[in-house]
Amino acid sequence: MCGIVGGVAERSITNILIEGLKRLEYRGYDSAGLALVSQDAILRERRVGKVANLEQAVNESLVTGSLGIAHTRWATHGKPTENNAHPHVSGHVAVVHNGIIENYQELKDDLEALGYVFTSQTDTEVVAHLVHDALKSTSSLLEAVQSVVPQLKGAYALGIIHTDYPDELITVREGSPLVIGVGIGENFISSDQLALLPITNRFIYLEEGDIARLTRDKIEVFVNGQLVNRPVKELDATVSNASKGEFKHYMLKEIYEQPEALQQTISQALDGNALRADFLKQAEADFANIQQVQILACGTSYHAGMIAKYWFEQLIDVPCQVEIASEFRYRTPVIVNNTLYLCISQSGETADTLAALRDTQKRAVSKNINIVTMAICNVATSSMIRETNHSLLTLAGPEIGVASTKAFTTQLAALMLLILKIGQIKQTISEHQIQSIAAELWHLPKVILDTLQNNAAILRLSELFVEKQHCLFLGRGTHFPIALEGALKLKEISYIHAEGYAAGELKHGPLALVDNDMPVVILAPQDDMLDKLKSNMEEVQARGGELFVFADEHSGIHNKDRQHVVSVPSISATLAPIVYSVPVQLLSYHVAVLRGTDVDQPRNLAKSVTVE
Ligand code: G6P
Repeated sequence: MCGIVGGVAERSITNILIEGLKRLEYRGYDSAGLALVSQDAILRERRVGKVANLEQAVNESLVTGSLGIAHTRWATHGKPTENNAHPHVSGHVAVVHNGIIENYQELKDDLEALGYVFTSQTDTEVVAHLVHDALKSTSSLLEAVQSVVPQLKGAYALGIIHTDYPDELITVREGSPLVIGVGIGENFISSDQLALLPITNRFIYLEEGDIARLTRDKIEVFVNGQLVNRPVKELDATVSNASKGEFKHYMLKEIYEQPEALQQTISQALDGNALRADFLKQAEADFANIQQVQILACGTSYHAGMIAKYWFEQLIDVPCQVEIASEFRYRTPVIVNNTLYLCISQSGETADTLAALRDTQKRAVSKNINIVTMAICNVATSSMIRETNHSLLTLAGPEIGVASTKAFTTQLAALMLLILKIGQIKQTISEHQIQSIAAELWHLPKVILDTLQNNAAILRLSELFVEKQHCLFLGRGTHFPIALEGALKLKEISYIHAEGYAAGELKHGPLALVDNDMPVVILAPQDDMLDKLKSNMEEVQARGGELFVFADEHSGIHNKDRQHVVSVPSISATLAPIVYSVPVQLLSYHVAVLRGTDVDQPRNLAKSVTVE
């Protein structure tokens, strides 16, 4: 998705802007640009493709300045062309924008009637012209922006500069993330604090509706024209967290970070084999009252929710529904009293999940229905964490690869911890069972570490996928969502068409696809369904299908003709889906590398989907 970086300083900020954009590359984009105020002019460079193309252009043209805005664009309105790339300029105004201005066509018609000529097909350009026009009747850039914002409908974050205000950067947050990075004698903005971590660890998190004016040594935040106080928060995230280190790709690094990420996530909740007394203490009264759970999520986070549904019902007898947020938000679902609405999101900014949450909250208030909201999220400062009653952090550290790995497995660990807590409060799980799952959770990082030892074996298997066009993933129970997740991973980074199926559904359709050329990946943990799964494997083999089986070391499944087995360390059936996530991640990773795709930034995809 689009990314914003901007700053006002004494020194030249050209390199800071470029470096910031590079740190946002992981979010997915198709063009990049920047604008700097230099003497009386706006200097602008824009390029289609990678930030490296923009960097080269900037190096050649030697544009420099101490006030500027920069942007990576993920096309929504208009193709990824240089003309459509941001910043957009109107006279002496330059604007970068994340999000969508929904009423842009109406505004554009009005502006054209006033004589404004549009040079792009974007929704953003209206903002530049509106500010330009507003300056005719206002006395400062801030006032002009304040008069424009009420005219805009949609979700947006903006960065705005003007040559007549060479020490001033105006920014707006309305439905799209925006942080201010506080420096010494210099200040910055970004849509993601990650972009600014090399220059500051002090941030102001703007609220929806905030408009801020940054100068070199002052930050003023306004709500409805009134100055408000927003606290400066210090972050302890280190810069090294966001670099690839010795790994070829972020995705591989993040796969290998899972033992530690899980350790961190688990440690916050457990004291020995018991739940810590302070773990989610403030939510206890709410948990005691809830009768059911509704999970809302997108993408990989949705798959984590699907697994949690099995756990909620099997382990603590609490009914649980899980739904893709983009469906839920548009189907007027019944809001039920005493329901826990649980959002799962790595970023905490996914537009559909946020909208589903907000709509639910609004409808519950209007109908006077008592609900509890909660977020499981990897970003402590995200909108979702701020807007829910309770939250539980996954402590995975920044996840840069578009394909989610460590965020997914830590979401599963966090969900398990939450389920134990709710079960304890509702007394639907015994202390003995809590202790035994807790003991296994402590052991989990070691099991994941052992599973990672299969990397070389999985690399060898992946060579057999390189030429394939299609692939099936099969699993049962909690491994059905892992099959879906395996298929999602493979398609998003290797571009091989893949489908995940509940193995019991095989004969209701997908079996028709099985032939010599259809690799079938099987997830075979040691659980009650193993014998049934073995029958499904026979059905595939009888049709000439080639099997790639990730199987428990004691499953009795061995290599044979057209059956390749990678043995997975033993783990209880309950926690097995966390472990079986790892081989499917590694398989997709190696297939993608062998096919030469852009593993960390697959085509057309974005890390944080902040527009619907
Ligand atoms: C995008 C990402 C996925 C992610 C999904 C939901 O599609 O590429 O990796 O699972 O968004 O994101 P969230 O931040 O809400 O977990």
